Formats: sequence, structure tokens, C-alpha cells
Amino acid sequence: MTPIPRPLVFQPAAGAFDLSADPAITVSPAAPAVAAVADFLAERLRPATGYALPVRPATAEADSPAIALALTPAGGAPDDESYRLDVTAAGVRAGAPAPAGLFYAVQTLRQLLPPAIESATPQPGPWPLPAGHISDGPRFAWRGLMLDVARHFFAPDDVKRVIDLAAAYKLNRLHLHLSDDQGWRIEIASWPDLARVGGQTAAGGGPGGFYTQAQYADLVAYAAARHVTVVPEIDMPGHSNAALAAYPELNADGQARPPYTGIEVGFSSLAIDREITYRFIEDVIGELAALTPGDYLHIGGDEALATAREEYLRFIARVEAIVNAHGKRAVGWEEIAQGRLAATTIAQHWASGHAVAAAAQGAKVILSPAPRVYLDMKYDAATPLGLQWAGFVPVRAAYDWEPATHLPGVDEAALLGVEAALWSETLTTLDDVTTMLLPRLPGVAEVAWSAPGRDWDDFRRRLAAHAPRWERMGLAFRREALEG
Ligand code: ACM
Repeated sequence: MTPIPRPLVFQPAAGAFDLSADPAITVSPAAPAVAAVADFLAERLRPATGYALPVRPATAEADSPAIALALTPAGGAPDDESYRLDVTAAGVRAGAPAPAGLFYAVQTLRQLLPPAIESATPQPGPWPLPAGHISDGPRFAWRGLMLDVARHFFAPDDVKRVIDLAAAYKLNRLHLHLSDDQGWRIEIASWPDLARVGGQTAAGGGPGGFYTQAQYADLVAYAAARHVTVVPEIDMPGHSNAALAAYPELNADGQARPPYTGIEVGFSSLAIDREITYRFIEDVIGELAALTPGDYLHIGGDEALATAREEYLRFIARVEAIVNAHGKRAVGWEEIAQGRLAATTIAQHWASGHAVAAAAQGAKVILSPAPRVYLDMKYDAATPLGLQWAGFVPVRAAYDWEPATHLPGVDEAALLGVEAALWSETLTTLDDVTTMLLPRLPGVAEVAWSAPGRDWDDFRRRLAAHAPRWERMGLAFRREALEG
């Protein structure tokens, strides 16, 4: 069955390669980045098959059956994510100009095997890999998922499961919403009370939590091993009560705010006219930039309803400059486009026309339209979890839309990509998270990766066939939404 996201070229052929031949996984060249992809594949296939699947350098004699991973031609652009995958009865060949493409070939290969391949314990098989040719590459460079760890905190191991899921559908950005009114989730050494005080609250009054810098660095490395770039967000100047509760000097009146555990928005603001605010931001951005190898720092900027417009525009310009001085590109929610943006700044559309102003300035835009990809919206009236301020988001709404015509004035050339968002006001566990992501996230991934043109009936059949995979992976999902 055609994988999700749908490849550019998918040509099934007669026959199959049988994994019971216990092939080696060969790498060419035997470089660490290629061997890492081979190890990733071997680790995915060994538990269910029980096979050895040794990883070794490719050799000249092509006599024994193999899954061959090769950079072809070596030395392609490092950001090239395209790949080819050829399966015959004699063997499997994956070729790509860069390791990311080989990684995506491997993710496609997983989907071609029976669902039992995702089991954590040995299964009887058989393990046919259907013969055919795939030639594939992404439409958009930015294929993201935002996870709100501020309203509710999710432990590092839970975030890793979310990264695994995102990477399985060829997403390449994990945007972590690390601060909001209800909580501050990242240790900042120079301002320790952000985590120590601001990290102790959560929406609804739960215990909260935060990532130590070591835990954050480990998440970044885990994501990088799956070709996912972490984009950390510190939401400013609004959505900042957790910081305002931790440090009185960040408030315009110098008085610490009480902790906040509700789910209203738009009431908090950092003190725009106090220089201490910019020393705070300099320190926070500096530490985050040092911990984050990716090119991007997200500065929030949404719903700053407690900040006067002129002050807001001044503030955003200063924060953008701080981000740039640390060698990073700023990303902000689309409200930032009310001012003049730096040439490298990226605006993230969610619910207004400000992204049109961003595109008119020549800025790149990420599309996260709430009625399509806010996966914290309920599927329908019967969904127990989630909110509904942007309406219901059934599976079809998340899948059946076209980015290049979604916002008049933001055309294909302005688009960097598409990002699903999962806000966590009502979500407290990993099961809650995956129940909202599945079955919708694969549809968003197809919008972000695949060439234009949707076929809902074809997609819903392919999607339903993934449910047994999610079961084997131990992921909770909303089965009722597959039938809707
Ligand atoms: C947002 O949903 N406030 C970006």
C-alpha cells in the first residue's frame, strides 16, 4: 500500500524481498552518519523479526542478499532530503544524496513491511517487502509539530515518543513551546527561579516540571538522530506570567504576579520599558542558543493583548536583534509581522491575516491554520479531550487543504512549510497527546511532504491501514475518528 506521506513516484512491481533471508544492512560510504541510519533501521527491525541484521560496510561482491544504504552521489547538498528506494526479490537498495534522505528511505521501508514489524517482541512473520521503485522528496523544507509543554509538562521520555512518531511521518521540526502563563519548562542557569518557581505550576493546578539543561540537550540530540531540528519557544512579551511570578523585576510595577493555573490568555506582559527585561532576554536567549544547534529560536509574540501596540513593535524588534546576535533566525507567531521584520525572520500563521503582511515584506511563512492543524481541537462533539474555539478538526480537515492557496497573499514562494500544533490545556498524559495526534498528524505530514493534489478516499484507506501499526507501537489513538 502507498506509504504516508505519499511518495512522488511509487511504482509497485511483482514479487517481494523476504527479510527471512536475514540480510546484512550495508553502508556506503562507511561514514558515521550513514551507519547511524543503518543502526536505526536494524534497531527497528530486530525486535519483531528476531534476526541479527548485521550492519557492515558494503563490499564489492554482491552475492549475499542485503539492504544496501548508499549516498549517491556522495557529497550532495547537506539539506537534501530526497531518496530512491528499489526493492527486488534479490535485495533492497536505498540511495540518497545526504543522510536525511537515507533516513526517510528507511521510514518508508518500515511502512512497506507488515504492521507486526512494529512489535517489541518476536513475531512469526513472514516479512515480505513488496518489490517496486520509489523516488521521493519533500515539497516543503519545514515540516513541523509544535508541542505545548507549558500548559502541561511532558517528561523527556514522552517527548521522545512524540519525536519518534513525527519522524515516522517524515516531519523534521519539533517546536517546543517552553514557556507560558502556566509554566516555565527550561532550566536557565542565570535566572534559576524561572524553572524553580515558574516550573512548579501547570494548567488546572498540577505539579508542573521542567527540563534541566542536560535533559534538553539530550532531547535535542535524540531529535537530531531522527533528522528532527528542535525549535525552542520562549513566548514574549505576553504569555509570560510564569516568568512574572518568578521575578518581580520583570513586571512594570515591580510586583511579582501570583502563579496562574487557568486557561485564559492575553493578560500578562513583560515590562517593556525596563532595561532589566532585555538583560533577562539576553541571558535566556544566550543560554538557549548555546544549547540549540538548530538555526531557529521562536520568540512567541502572539496574543500580547496587555502590551500597547507601539511598545509591542519596539519590543519585538529588540528581541529579534538579540536572537540574530546569537547567530539564530527568529521565528514568531504572525502578529510580529505588524512591524518591520529582519530579513531572516519567519512568521507563523495561526489565525489572522498578519502573515500576509509578512509575505509582503519578503519574510518566509509557516502555515499552522488553527481550523486545519491545531490538533488540540476536538475531532467532533463527542471527543472527550481538546478545545473547540477554532471549530472541530476532523481527520479530513487536517488532510484535505492546499497550502499555496490557503491564504490569499501568501503564495507558494513565501511558504517555508507547514506545522501542526498541539496545545495542552486539556492534555496531561502521553496517551492524551497521541490520541489527539492520531489519526490526524499523518494527514498534516502528507500536506507538508507530498506534491499538491489530495485524494481523500485513497488517503483514508491508507490511514486506516496504519491503525494496526499504532497498536503495535503501543500508541493510543482515536479510532472513532478513522470512521468519520
Ligand atoms: C496561538 O495559538 N496563540 C499561537
